[in-house]
Amino acid sequence: MTDLSCSLAGVTFKNPIVMASGTFGFGKEYGAIYDINKLGGLSGKGLTLHPKAGNDGVRVAETASGMLNSVGLENPGIAAFLREECPRWEMLDLARIVNLGGNTIEEYVEGARLINDDAAWRKREGRTAVDMIELNISCPNVKAGGMAYGIKTDIARQVVREVRAATTLPLVVKLSPNAEDIVGMAVMCQEEQADGVSLINTFSAMKIDIHKRRSVFDNLYAGLSGPAIKPIALRMVHQVCQAVNVPVMGMGGISCAEDIVEFIMAGAAVVQVGTHNFVNLRAGEQLIEDLATWMSREGIQTLDEIRGIL
Ligand SMILES: Cc1cc2nc3c(=O)[nH]c(=O)nc-3n(C[C@H](O)[C@H](O)[C@H](O)COP(=O)(O)O)c2cc1C
Repeated sequence: MTDLSCSLAGVTFKNPIVMASGTFGFGKEYGAIYDINKLGGLSGKGLTLHPKAGNDGVRVAETASGMLNSVGLENPGIAAFLREECPRWEMLDLARIVNLGGNTIEEYVEGARLINDDAAWRKREGRTAVDMIELNISCPNVKAGGMAYGIKTDIARQVVREVRAATTLPLVVKLSPNAEDIVGMAVMCQEEQADGVSLINTFSAMKIDIHKRRSVFDNLYAGLSGPAIKPIALRMVHQVCQAVNVPVMGMGGISCAEDIVEFIMAGAAVVQVGTHNFVNLRAGEQLIEDLATWMSREGIQTLDEIRGIL
């Protein structure tokens, strides 16, 4: 009998497939298409303390084997999320992850506190809506803070330290491939008592409208994701897994069961799937089925048999 279950920072995932932040909303729209409780988990759209309108102009563009996005963290703000989305999240049976963004350290910390206090209040009433925080220090599409915090290890250390002190929820830090030293960044997160790291976010990239002779994006650069980045993402996940003891959520360009197996063999505890949700709205459901089929064909009962086997 094939067992797909995994665990990370004390949270159980019924399978290793987690929907990546910014590609799955808060799960409501996809929930109308298939039963999202089949998934291992979901990371909601990046949230900031205050609502954000996001970037003007073109927000997404297709590239060879991937896409560019410049959404700019459009989101309803943490208070609205807790009020309007969490009653539905309470009813879900999968690992529910809040992706926390911010423009200043104070904003990150205040956001983490709000989420933490809300979780404590619900727990007293025997309810849970959020299982984990994914601290996003790596968004390339916001001007202040955002990726700036995810590039230099010393600056990131302060954010991780202060957010860690502000919450008792399991904390995973999402790393940028644009970091000066992504392995050093992961080691720092472990030193600062993060429960895990997730990687990678998008690569800072560009597309030019040659007729207008300007960037396609108002924000000049945009984030590259999808199959085009998978080999680099896999290399980075492997390097980070070699360097830290905390669990790793691996992502970047996953679009089939074999891709998931590669990330697990590189050492990932679970994986996240982003851009592929736009190619196949039922990607999550399909990948779970395909992974189970692959495992039984190979005679593998649990993912521990192949995790980090390289
Ligand atoms: C349209 C779009 C929006 C995204 N928004 C967020 C976000 O709000 N927070 C975040 O941490 N990552 C965000 N990401 C990055 C993804 O979660 C993921 O790290 C990245 O796309 C690589 O995985 P993929 O190649 O499977 O898409 C976004 C990606 C896309 C394509």
